[in-house]
Amino acid sequence: MITLVAVLVTTTCVMAQSGPKDIIPAPFHYEVTKGTTSLPEAADMDIRIGSKKFLSRIKGYGLEDWQVKSAYYLELSPKGLHIEAADYEGFFYAIQSAYMMRFVSPEIQCCRILDWPRFRHRGMMLDVSRNFQPVEFVKRQLDMMALLKMNKFHFHLVDHPGWRIQIDKYPLLTGFSAWRTKDDWEDWIKDGQRFLDRNDPAARGGFYTKKDIAEIIAYAADRQIEVIPEIEMPGHNYESIAAYPFLSCMDPDGKDHLKGVHELCPGNEQVYEFLENVLTEVFEMFPSKYIHIGGDEAGKGNWAKCPVCQAKMKAEGLGNVEELQSYLVKRMEKFVNDHGKTIIGWDEILEGGLAPNATVMSWRGTEGGHKAIEDGHDVIFSPTQCYYLDYHQAADQYRAVGPYQPLKQTYSFEPIDENIAPENVHHVLGVQGNLWTEFVNQWWHAETMLYPRLFAIAETGWSQPQRKDYSSFRNRAVTWNKVLDYLGYNHYKLGPVEKDGN
Ligand code: ACM
Ligand code: ZN
Repeated sequence: MITLVAVLVTTTCVMAQSGPKDIIPAPFHYEVTKGTTSLPEAADMDIRIGSKKFLSRIKGYGLEDWQVKSAYYLELSPKGLHIEAADYEGFFYAIQSAYMMRFVSPEIQCCRILDWPRFRHRGMMLDVSRNFQPVEFVKRQLDMMALLKMNKFHFHLVDHPGWRIQIDKYPLLTGFSAWRTKDDWEDWIKDGQRFLDRNDPAARGGFYTKKDIAEIIAYAADRQIEVIPEIEMPGHNYESIAAYPFLSCMDPDGKDHLKGVHELCPGNEQVYEFLENVLTEVFEMFPSKYIHIGGDEAGKGNWAKCPVCQAKMKAEGLGNVEELQSYLVKRMEKFVNDHGKTIIGWDEILEGGLAPNATVMSWRGTEGGHKAIEDGHDVIFSPTQCYYLDYHQAADQYRAVGPYQPLKQTYSFEPIDENIAPENVHHVLGVQGNLWTEFVNQWWHAETMLYPRLFAIAETGWSQPQRKDYSSFRNRAVTWNKVLDYLGYNHYKLGPVEKDGN
């Protein structure tokens, strides 16, 4: 606590004066009071956690328990900084608001702030499979997430172009499938998508050891962030099949395993053994409630021809390959649930029948999310058209996967619309921005894609809808462009509105 404040008082500024108007995400309520002040030394802080006064202050707003835990009251006056919260979490968010003002200027408008989050999942996904990023890079983004009061870091650790997490039982995943012939994803595809032995002088890539993972989780936890690992199944498994060919389907005459394919064989019991062994080590590493099991974009053509898959479908009475995928997901869900955890899957897990306790991450628009909600499931919205941070922010910006998606478009997303019945709103856990990294192979490029669009997602995740206002947000984003410069983050440089359509 004291250390946080010490950092706060030694940083410099980008504007003459700051105040609650500069905070992203916009607080629920603030009022400015007389005078300005600088942030006090720790001795001048008055902190009340769990006070009755605070509980009576927030009574009457109909807050749920999880919101109460995150709520805070902050009063900054010439006398000092007074903070009230029900829980340490709320205190932490109060400090982030103080940081936000202090990063803008040491001279701060005196004020009172009462604040809490709108959604419980305020997430960011980073794909480290296509381009590996060192622990220090991950920590930098966790720092920014914390400032933005974001609380879920979805770690996309495994995928077709690289396996990035130590699994002791299957050493080739990181001894081979984490090391490519080329750094650049596109060059690697053109070069034949080959992996190399870790000790090969030409090997490019990396992975996180169990010690690295523990370090990231602890760093995130200090910032009220839960790290949710994603272990993809049954698609996007080119890399694990490259290391362990027994994981793929058989050719139609049942003589050999298919090579260079992306899908696991859901007919093969050895695949379940592999997934359970991997997840067992993942459970040991990650204390998170959720485990993301992927489930997206599995090509099912080989399953229709594989004799092992066909035998499984017959034995289990499965009518089509969608039901075969659903069989795998349901079976893995049971395994995850038996270990006290809950699965999240991309919205394809709806096809063939949704696993009973699954949370759905709606990415192909919002329809999948709406369907899951109607069926009584929790949903996180991360629709491509607003929340895919690998899409262009400006017409002339680098190589990118997707079309133009400026800040305004990201800001415009509203997760709760007429498709969600009022009694089902509680199934909307929140929102998440996703940074896939096919064309993002430098740290500075990743940050350019993240910022300032992540600010917009943070505001939708935290701020009440009546506090959302694009022109106010854009002014704050411009201010925060300067703070990001000061803090050494790269970012997309917001130009005049006419220029970049933002
Ligand atoms: C995804 O973008 N394939 C989830
Ligand atoms: Zn098969």
